[in-house]
Amino acid sequence: MISVVKKVFHFMGKGGVGKTTSAATQASLLSERGKTLIVSLDPAHNLGDVLGAKVGEEPEEVAPNLYAAEPNVDRIISSFVKRVVEELQDHYKYLKVYNLDNVLRVLEYTPGVEEQALLEALAKFMNLEVFDYLVIDHAPTGLSVRVLLLPEIMEGWLERLIELRKQIIKRRKILGDDEEDQVLNILLEELEKNKKLKELLKDPERSSVIVVLNPEEMPFLEAKRIKDTLADFGIPLCGVVVNKIVSERHEDSIVRSIMEEQKRWLSRINEEFKDYKIIRVPYLVPPPKGLETLKKVGREVWGGALCCS
Ligand SMILES: Nc1ncnc2c1ncn2[C@@H]1O[C@H](COP(=O)(O)OP(=O)(O)OP(=O)(O)O)[C@@H](O)[C@H]1O
Ligand SMILES: [Mg+2]
Repeated sequence: MISVVKKVFHFMGKGGVGKTTSAATQASLLSERGKTLIVSLDPAHNLGDVLGAKVGEEPEEVAPNLYAAEPNVDRIISSFVKRVVEELQDHYKYLKVYNLDNVLRVLEYTPGVEEQALLEALAKFMNLEVFDYLVIDHAPTGLSVRVLLLPEIMEGWLERLIELRKQIIKRRKILGDDEEDQVLNILLEELEKNKKLKELLKDPERSSVIVVLNPEEMPFLEAKRIKDTLADFGIPLCGVVVNKIVSERHEDSIVRSIMEEQKRWLSRINEEFKDYKIIRVPYLVPPPKGLETLKKVGREVWGGALCCS
């Protein structure tokens, strides 16, 4: 089984745009339709803060029909690597004879390992039978997009490996070795699992990718990049959440209330970080971009001093 939940929602986007907030909003709406689990795959979790509830590594109920989890992403990755290395050491016992089994440790630094570990964790959550819906609050990094692309990338690799393995088996047969090949079985199993995951990610009935952005250049460019990359791999984007829009309608009141809210936090910041150098940068319109502007900001706003030298 690749997924028993009815539907998975992936929230992606640039850092700080409001992914966690939007994912949590979606999850709260979903919980009115069925049992919903929201999982943060961002190592810097703040889901608990957004939800205003204590969230642990395993799914726990935070509201009726709404469960949340903040798994330890670094641990997921390191235990995945450890497990794979142990399995390989088992398969390649002869390496130990030559004291070469440590070469397998190189896997820790192999490209794609983190993606594979996160994909496996994702599959684990998708298979929790008690839930109807799963909402994933992704990390603001390229890694999260690559996790979704992995099944497509892996398919080509696995097909090639299977081909090579079949050639090896053919040669072995010539030498009279007719034993069933375990490696081939594992590869075929992986290919099957992978195909199902790929189909699931491309099925709009079962999986949706939502990009969160703010009406600003950088979040826009990142959102566009995510959309284009996913499209290249045949994964459709379902929708966007344009967050933090400031409109004329509440121009006066919103500016005043933002200021009031900020004053409260500025005094908290002043207190909390009183032993540190604090640089105060106003909201700049347009946002500072380009070396010349940045230098100007450094001179005029930062007062020409480095933050930490
Ligand atoms: N519509 C909004 N209006 C005002 N503030 C918002 C809005 N949405 C989110 N925020 C605030 O913006 C900040 C970032 O939001 P959030 O944590 O949801 O973003 P994120 O994309 O998940 O960030 P990260 O990339 O760090 O995980 C938070 O302080 C949040 O409260
Ligand atoms: Mg977040």
